Amino acid sequence: MPKNQVVVITGASSGIGRATAIRFAKQHARLVLASRRQRSLDELVDELNAIGAQAIAVPTDVTNEEAVLELANTAVENFGRIDVWVNNAAVSVFAPFATMPLDDFRRVIDVNIMGYVYGARAALEVMSRQKKGVLINVASLVGEVAQPYTAPYGMSKAAIRALGVSLRSELMLKNLKGVNVATVVPPTIDTPFFRHSANYTGREVVAMPPVYSANQVAKAIVRLASAPRSELVIGRAGQALVRQHRKTPALVETQMALQTDKAHLSRQHRSGDTTGTLYAPAPADDAEVSGGWNGEGRTAGRRAIAWILLVGGGTVVARRLLQGQSGSPRMAALANWATVANLTALANRVTLADWTALADRAKRLGPSLGSSSRGRSTHGHSTHGRSGLMPTALALAAMAKANAPKTKSTKANSTKVNSARARRAKATTARRAKANRAKVKVA
Ligand SMILES: NC(=O)c1ccc[n+]([C@@H]2O[C@H](COP(=O)([O-])OP(=O)(O)OC[C@H]3O[C@@H](n4cnc5c(N)ncnc54)[C@H](OP(=O)(O)O)[C@@H]3O)[C@@H](O)[C@H]2O)c1
Repeated sequence: MPKNQVVVITGASSGIGRATAIRFAKQHARLVLASRRQRSLDELVDELNAIGAQAIAVPTDVTNEEAVLELANTAVENFGRIDVWVNNAAVSVFAPFATMPLDDFRRVIDVNIMGYVYGARAALEVMSRQKKGVLINVASLVGEVAQPYTAPYGMSKAAIRALGVSLRSELMLKNLKGVNVATVVPPTIDTPFFRHSANYTGREVVAMPPVYSANQVAKAIVRLASAPRSELVIGRAGQALVRQHRKTPALVETQMALQTDKAHLSRQHRSGDTTGTLYAPAPADDAEVSGGWNGEGRTAGRRAIAWILLVGGGTVVARRLLQGQSGSPRMAALANWATVANLTALANRVTLADWTALADRAKRLGPSLGSSSRGRSTHGHSTHGRSGLMPTALALAAMAKANAPKTKSTKANSTKVNSARARRAKATTARRAKANRAKVKVA
């Protein structure tokens, strides 16, 4: 991103807005920070100044059109232009539709839709004059698949996606190619948002998995500022949900409803009725990026699982390639071992004994399993066309056999073998004794 970009962010005092401000500051942007809490914004300005960024705090209620226009004017007066405007301030209410207080319903629409509308008008006026700029609207996955008990929030986020389409169309018709509108679509994010929400369900609102970190959204927003896209869904789970919703809407909506009821509203922790931060902000000391839902840790955990899957898949592909090239038995054995190791790890059954057994088995079975490249294993079974799976299956079977307790029939078999050996040994001894006796006679 070019240095000294002028960035306005609404809802900058906590959560995604705060994380985004910090990230832009690290890119040497000049920041204009808005929300209702003066003290939280002042503290953030100090934090950003400490890392060498220029920032100013402009306390603003986004439902006040005059105040939003004043926010834009302050940005231009102080820094001469507006390069990026992030519409991010939002609130929510949880309650059954029939009993949700209509004032709260209206307030959510007012903050989440009209707040963005005022921001978009103020920003686009300046950007159209400049013939340059990026407006970024933070929507939500709930704007794609709405949830029960939070109708106005889902409606508002669907409206924000529609607003983005409409604004892009007008800019295209005006041939204003340098001005862009991007929509960010986050899934559940670890911010204080849920405890800021109004609530009339009697159940505490908790972050519904999968939970991502606010930094991930901030990173995407900063990227969009220099490489705008129409819409960006954050996280692979979110992207998969959007794709699946287009294919099987009823299934996804049913799943979302059940999941919200089960995992978004706690059955353990009760909550009294509250208007949350709809009409007044949270205390200044409740202005963190994280809401305490371990978004960073959970993101890292998901990444680790993805890596294991990737390495496992990669190993299978590598095995196929190696065997296809009639590679050395040693390489094939190594690939076999790695595949089985990965599969075992994925099955979560990794103990030291497993690894030892695996290594031991793979050492002994490797060359024979690897011989599939010649089309025939040492047992004479053709392995053409299934070289990737067959050796793995054989190795797993061998492992299972090695670890299995000895059965009656195995014992019986070994007894049979032992007695046959004993008979053969007895016969040999008798033959030798007879020959010795004959020698003595001759002598
Ligand atoms: N957390 C999630 O799971 C999630 C998921 C998808 C999308 N999002 C979206 O991400 C955005 C940021 O939310 P967040 O998760 O970071 O929650 P948050 O920490 O509660 O942030 C909301 C911000 O909006 C500000 N705000 C609220 N009402 C305002 C008003 N009337 N005027 C000006 N500012 C106001 C708040 O500051 P003051 O109280 O100081 O005014 C705060 O800075 C929202 O658009 C939200 O819909 C969140």
